[in-house]
Amino acid sequence: MTDATSPLANDDLANNRRRAGARAHFRAMGLTEQDWTRPVIGIATTWTGTMPCNMGQRDLAKHVAAGVRAAGGTPLEFNTIAISDNITQGTQGMRASLISREVIADSIELVGRGHPFDGLICLAACDKTVPGVAMALTRLDLPGLVFYSGAMASGTHRGRQINVKDVWEALGGWEAGSITTEELEEIEREACPGIGACAGQFTANTMSIALDFLGLAPTGLGGLLATDPGKPASAEAAGRLVLDLVKRGLRPSSILTKDAFENAIVGVSGTGGSTNAVLHLLAIAAEAGVDLTLEDFDRLSAATPLVTSLSPGGPHVAGDLQRVGGTPAVVRRLRDHLHLDARSIDGRTYGEIAEAASEPDGAVIAPNDAPFKQGGALRILRGSLAPDGAVVKLAGTERPAHRGPVRVFDYEIECRDAVDAGEVQPGEIVVVRYVGPAGAPGMPEMLSVTSAIMGRGLGETVALVTDGRFSGATRGLMIGHVTPEAAHGGPIALLRDGDIVSIDADARTLEVEVAADELARRAAELPAFVPRATSGVFAKYARSVGSASQGAVTR
Ligand code: FES
Repeated sequence: MTDATSPLANDDLANNRRRAGARAHFRAMGLTEQDWTRPVIGIATTWTGTMPCNMGQRDLAKHVAAGVRAAGGTPLEFNTIAISDNITQGTQGMRASLISREVIADSIELVGRGHPFDGLICLAACDKTVPGVAMALTRLDLPGLVFYSGAMASGTHRGRQINVKDVWEALGGWEAGSITTEELEEIEREACPGIGACAGQFTANTMSIALDFLGLAPTGLGGLLATDPGKPASAEAAGRLVLDLVKRGLRPSSILTKDAFENAIVGVSGTGGSTNAVLHLLAIAAEAGVDLTLEDFDRLSAATPLVTSLSPGGPHVAGDLQRVGGTPAVVRRLRDHLHLDARSIDGRTYGEIAEAASEPDGAVIAPNDAPFKQGGALRILRGSLAPDGAVVKLAGTERPAHRGPVRVFDYEIECRDAVDAGEVQPGEIVVVRYVGPAGAPGMPEMLSVTSAIMGRGLGETVALVTDGRFSGATRGLMIGHVTPEAAHGGPIALLRDGDIVSIDADARTLEVEVAADELARRAAELPAFVPRATSGVFAKYARSVGSASQGAVTR
């Protein structure tokens, strides 16, 4: 344990003559003897200048460092990579996104193993950076926390609040001829007014709330928008808090219990969060050695009411939620569904957090006696098409079931082109396969396909089934994470155009209505999957990644 009486991680710097070379380099950075006799705190940022999501972190890290110093520690900043889901969406680059989660986790872990820290604070905001840093912190098990660098403000179009999801859907509308080029350009210019993570309850904000409920982030501390004038003070408070964790020896392993993960699932379900949270919480649980399963998501989601009206299922965004009390107010609204004696890393129990939070406003957070929907939105389907499970999110659609002929694509772009060309007909199910973790590789999101379906007005008549995944901005009856994936020989690889598939989210089933002997014949004839990447990080990942039903972690 690292506590007030334990040796510091860099103790031998002060006491060991043989560390003279290391001390020389610390001196070169302007540090003195005093600095390495204090707790050394790593500050990991996921800053990149390639996206707005994490852009504020370089500045915020300075405020975190000021907090660390003020509390008696020595801050050492370092940086890792990030890939934007939005900028890569619909391109080959999208395959890099989920892979980046592993690289982020591995790279922070490596720095932590190479340069001993007494504590660690990780700044994150984009989709994969939040779970990636959480995985690293859990692996290293250092006293520390995740600080969310904040969401983006919403844009305004003709008096209506919009965000990047509206750009994607406007694009679908433009391709279908229902929106003019002029209006599409207006929406593109107006949707994203400044830096920060995507404004809706998409994956980044979903994971922020998940970590607030899990306890790995101090609940509510990262809730201010990236551009809020109060953000630097929150960052400084986060820096001071880490020193407190070091003094108390409070590590992730002491809070990451099964109850904590169940609280996180309740938080995700109750806010209509992204299906990506299933992958990411499974992955963090795997790092923590907690036995979390797909069935835990189904069970808890079914019992958790939808209590926020956040985009894409509702009209509000992160700034609205913050205005009415942020995550603590959601904790209060959901307290009957939570383990209230679990603790956030800030030391408070969830019962205490709920007690101190504001009552629901009734519009962004549902009134206590009237949730926006009974039963959560995430469901786990199984059946002959997905023996190891598949994930569906029912926020943004009223349609729980669909039965129809499939139209099968092995590449997302082919599916997108078919939707754009008007080839996909009402009643059909489009299947996009070989886009799982090992297949694509990298399990890309299908937002360009789902937005095209919505944009062409097919959202209530067409369903999508894929071994890929979905953006949190996705709406409609879209079933993802089908496992085993096609590249691993799953039944989804056996589908042919015209086969009948039935989806029943209420019954939790996903069935292919083809005789078992015919499926066996097709399986015998199925050629071995030829990996789509043969060198570099994609090939390495494809070889080592596991099933999406277990979080798509690498081994
Ligand atoms: Fe980074 Fe949406 S693409 S948060």
